[in-house]
Amino acid sequence: MCGIVGYVGYREAQPILLNSLKRLEYRGYDSCGIALQGSIIEVYKDVGRVEELEKMLPPVESKIGIGHTRWATHGKPSQINAHPHLDCSGKIAVVHNGVISNSQSLREQLVGEGHRFLSETDTEVIPHLIEKHYQGNLAQAVEAALGYINGSYSIVVVHTECEELVVARNESPLIIGVGDRENLIASDVPAVLDHTDRVIYLEDGDIGVVSKQGVRIFNNGVAVRREKHRIPWNIEEAQKSGYEHFMLKEIHEQPRVIRDSFRGYIRAIESVVDLGIGKLTHFDNILLLACGTSYYAAWVGKHAIEKLVRVPVMVELASEFNYNDTVLGKTWVIGITQSGETADTLKALKRAKGLGCRTLAIANVVESSVTRIAEQILYVRAGPEISVAATKSFVAQLVTLYLLALSYAIIDTRSRERLITELRILPNKVQQLLNEEEKIAECSKCLAKYENAFFVARGINLPVALEGALKLKEISYIHAEGYAAGELKHGPFALLTSNTPVIAIVAQDDTQETLITNLKEIKARESPLIALAEEGNEEVEKLADRVIWIPRVEPLFSPVLNGVALQLLAYYTARERGCPIDQPRNLAKSVTVE
Ligand code: F6R
Repeated sequence: MCGIVGYVGYREAQPILLNSLKRLEYRGYDSCGIALQGSIIEVYKDVGRVEELEKMLPPVESKIGIGHTRWATHGKPSQINAHPHLDCSGKIAVVHNGVISNSQSLREQLVGEGHRFLSETDTEVIPHLIEKHYQGNLAQAVEAALGYINGSYSIVVVHTECEELVVARNESPLIIGVGDRENLIASDVPAVLDHTDRVIYLEDGDIGVVSKQGVRIFNNGVAVRREKHRIPWNIEEAQKSGYEHFMLKEIHEQPRVIRDSFRGYIRAIESVVDLGIGKLTHFDNILLLACGTSYYAAWVGKHAIEKLVRVPVMVELASEFNYNDTVLGKTWVIGITQSGETADTLKALKRAKGLGCRTLAIANVVESSVTRIAEQILYVRAGPEISVAATKSFVAQLVTLYLLALSYAIIDTRSRERLITELRILPNKVQQLLNEEEKIAECSKCLAKYENAFFVARGINLPVALEGALKLKEISYIHAEGYAAGELKHGPFALLTSNTPVIAIVAQDDTQETLITNLKEIKARESPLIALAEEGNEEVEKLADRVIWIPRVEPLFSPVLNGVALQLLAYYTARERGCPIDQPRNLAKSVTVE
């Protein structure tokens, strides 16, 4: 995820900016850069690490500057696309986080007016718009420029003629670290903590003028006061935004991740989803290939695509596909991988491509190895995932697969409109569930006492049950098995005792009735039963020992909410057992060997 820093004060800006950028490295990035004010703006930027940038920098004397770490979204990672970006005169430099949804039309207009663009980024329209409106007052020019911009942003602007930085925020975080005869700006608290623990959080619509002496903030043209907060965390705690583990932080990021995942893909007025990957013609079927959590997301995707597009979908473990004789005809092969580096998935995609299939990769890490194999790429927008256990990337994959299904859906306009509306309110539903996490933590206290557990479900939630079991085993070290609810009686019943809890997902769809029958069979074996059920399901409440209530949702999208609930259940169980949650034993974030 991109990171922003800025400095204005009595000290040399260069080392402070570089140090602050290093403090944001944990967020992940592919390129970085700084701009220092002098009679001209000196910009230094490149792909790679801050440390490498530091080595190539000449010492530049300047007490005011800005910096950025970029995680590519618009345009590949490259020196040209790295921030800061300049206007034509080279007097204005900007760093930006967020997405400008109308950048294309703004760019065309500005080019028509004689502005010259160098990069492929959406950001570059900002310095040009500011240049267009600059008449000696930078804050006024920024305000005027932002009036033309749609989308999300946090920006810091430096001008050769101003002794101050101008900052602005809309739907993308930005803070000001308040020092003594100096002030710092950052997208995240760790970047300023080496210098100050007093922080102002900007709000949406705020424009700030930050000088050595102080900070003035305006909203809608009116001066506003924003409280200074004292940060009680050390650097490491701050990188986790105060959460005890990255996993919990990433679980809590999911409402934002869902919003980011569909931003720009839904044309609301026509209720159309357009992923920009062409038409689904000339294919008889689709093959989804993935490993681990990504495989379970793919399996949910199979249900969604088959339901909405009516095309046969096969799902295979990438590690097995390489040794199977799967018959591929006119098959569209889609590899799903968070890291883009999983050896089995890369090999499977290469093989499919070698067999003449069209290939698409759904990946999270921009410019990872998979992008050099697949013919087309669709990025999920989870942002960097630090915890070894996948959480937000799973949910981003699900949303992307729903969008894929909706973009090719053979359904009437009203059904499409209804599903798109449901998808758009999903972040609020996830937030509702997160607000109730204490209750899930209570269930975890009970689950943490056992050494074995089953996770069961039917239909579209079966892969979610398997994912729940995977999450529990990898971080809490409890042996857990995900099973089709109807299959328990074909063998695993022999294991059900009062010492084997069963976690069951009861979805409000056509699987519900049979699943409740299965729950009765499980209860008859005295297994402690934890059920995930929609609010108000009295039948389940009577049967289960504990119920995790899930907000009411369109059944097709219930895997998202059930998935989040099971992430929390696994997290709190592992915490109860004192496990090293972010780095479970024997596991790595990218599995680059077969
Ligand atoms: C589990 C987990 C793994 C990965 C798997 C595939 O929490 O993270 O099971 O899902 O190793 O990784 P990617 O998606 O990077 O291909």
